[in-house]
Amino acid sequence: MTSQEEMQTVNNKDPNRGEMIAVCSAKGGVGRTILTVNLAAAIYKKNISVGVLDGDFQFGDVGLALDLHSTFTIKEVIETIGSLDEHSLLGFLSNHESGIKVLPAPERPEFADMITKENTNSILDKMLKLFDYVFVDTGVGFNDHTLNFVEKADQILVVTNLEMATLKNTKLMLETFDKLGLSEKVKVIINRATMESVISATDAAQILREETPYYIPNDFQVCSQSLNIGIPFVMKQGKTEVAKSIFKMAELITSKRQAIQPKSVKNNSLLDKLFPMKRKKGGKSL
Ligand SMILES: Nc1ncnc2c1ncn2[C@@H]1O[C@H](COP(=O)(O)OP(=O)(O)OP(=O)(O)O)[C@@H](O)[C@H]1O
Ligand SMILES: [Mg+2]
Repeated sequence: MTSQEEMQTVNNKDPNRGEMIAVCSAKGGVGRTILTVNLAAAIYKKNISVGVLDGDFQFGDVGLALDLHSTFTIKEVIETIGSLDEHSLLGFLSNHESGIKVLPAPERPEFADMITKENTNSILDKMLKLFDYVFVDTGVGFNDHTLNFVEKADQILVVTNLEMATLKNTKLMLETFDKLGLSEKVKVIINRATMESVISATDAAQILREETPYYIPNDFQVCSQSLNIGIPFVMKQGKTEVAKSIFKMAELITSKRQAIQPKSVKNNSLLDKLFPMKRKKGGKSL
């Protein structure tokens, strides 16, 4: 056994399991998707295999952000779930020129209804065997799928910007993660941190009680162009400040890998913890 394997065994973590990173936000339009794809591409540049699951099953835009014209989405994978193995799953994933492999969201929002937690977990477990890192763009706020993703994830990245409404909701999201006992794996990304705003990036960090957030500068031109052409800016505009901040984050994330602690076994689902009354049979409150 190598020392690396020994350490991972001590940590009680399957050494063959990749690391799952859930990228969440309490508000839409804050940069969840652009940060997910750029971070994924930046990690791939370090010769580390990376898969991305678009977990925004209704309105996912990872495919658009990467200009993928995929024949297959998670819908087609679920249609074969009974016989799915890692090899067949690989055949469904879209190869982006950045090197990352992507499972896009269904083409239409109504298809999201056919996606269950069990199916998603089965797909994720296979992706975690195939890749060193698996990123999930979770969509906005909390729903059953998001809660499942964050419970399963090794790291949770919560994206915010400097707007008051976003900060208010991000604070609520962080408090909820705290309540669920997940705060140890949560890290905040303050996106567009250099944007002119009445609230500064350091104010935002204080409001969120986050001592060491990741800061991503504001660069609308680079970001919108990258989204429009479907090429992560870390690929062709690696010298820009915004790309450098992503490389720095990729470095910090990958260097942390050894320090991840094993997840404790939980008996109750996160939904039960959040909504204990709602889930009691017979609806009687105690
Ligand atoms: N650091 C940044 N600097 C400037 N503009 C940015 C930055 N990050 C994101 N943007 C812009 O913000 C917009 C939203 O980005 P993106 O689509 O990644 O957000 P999202 O959170 O995934 O949105 P949705 O909730 O709709 O999925 C885009 O126009 C993007 O160019
Ligand atoms: Mg998005």
